[in-house]
Amino acid sequence: MSTPTFASQPQAGASLADSARKARFWDRIARKYAADPIADPAGYEATLARVQELLAPTHEVLELGCGTGSTALRLAPGTRRYLATDVSSRMIDIAREKLAQQPLPQLSFALADADAPDLTPSAYDAVLAFNLLHLVDDLDQTLKLAKQALRPGGLLIAKTPCIGEMNPLIPHVALPLMRAIGKAPQVQCFKAPALQAAFERQGLVVQSLERHGTRGKDIRAFIVACKPG
Ligand SMILES: C[S@@+](CC[C@H](N)C(=O)[O-])C[C@H]1O[C@@H](n2cnc3c(N)ncnc32)[C@H](O)[C@@H]1O
Repeated sequence: MSTPTFASQPQAGASLADSARKARFWDRIARKYAADPIADPAGYEATLARVQELLAPTHEVLELGCGTGSTALRLAPGTRRYLATDVSSRMIDIAREKLAQQPLPQLSFALADADAPDLTPSAYDAVLAFNLLHLVDDLDQTLKLAKQALRPGGLLIAKTPCIGEMNPLIPHVALPLMRAIGKAPQVQCFKAPALQAAFERQGLVVQSLERHGTRGKDIRAFIVACKPG
């Protein structure tokens, strides 16, 4: 089995300035993000259990937008190799601190921009993206590169807030105001059918569209898609 490689800097395809711009917001809030409680612990556990069902101990896994690594630390033990990446160096620093406390030989963290990751083609059995796809500049490009990184038959597994399913005042008024004062990142506004269509445009076969939330209306679409082969 080939060993996946990954650029150590997030510049491939995206300019360093571009990646630095995207990282700025997340670098600033990384410590707070790490300290904040999970909004829906039962929903989060349901997602973890579902992903664990889909992964196998032989799998080589890539996670995009891993944040402070909490999910990677939970999922990596069930895999052969798990590379977790993020555009924010502060997020990666915290993830590495956590890994130092809880070493896992199969897990490593690296800086990478999901808009243009420098990936070895057909190297992974699964690519994961949790709470990320609404944040990338070019959803089609990210999905295209994620598909390229998968082996034939590999799975792209994503959980994504569909901001277009919220009260319109949030994407059209509240979020722009918050962004203007540096309290929110740039987000893409779509509903689940548009997200599913984006997967399908890249030739990914959507196997399942689920919701795991346990607290009121759940705007997070959980999608399992397969690279044919
Ligand atoms: C909402 S957090 C989600 C973190 C983690 N996946 C989770 O579910 O807790 C979004 C993460 O995506 C990262 N991110 C945003 N844009 C990115 C990009 N273009 N490439 C890689 N990571 C990105 C941020 O740095 C942040 O860590």
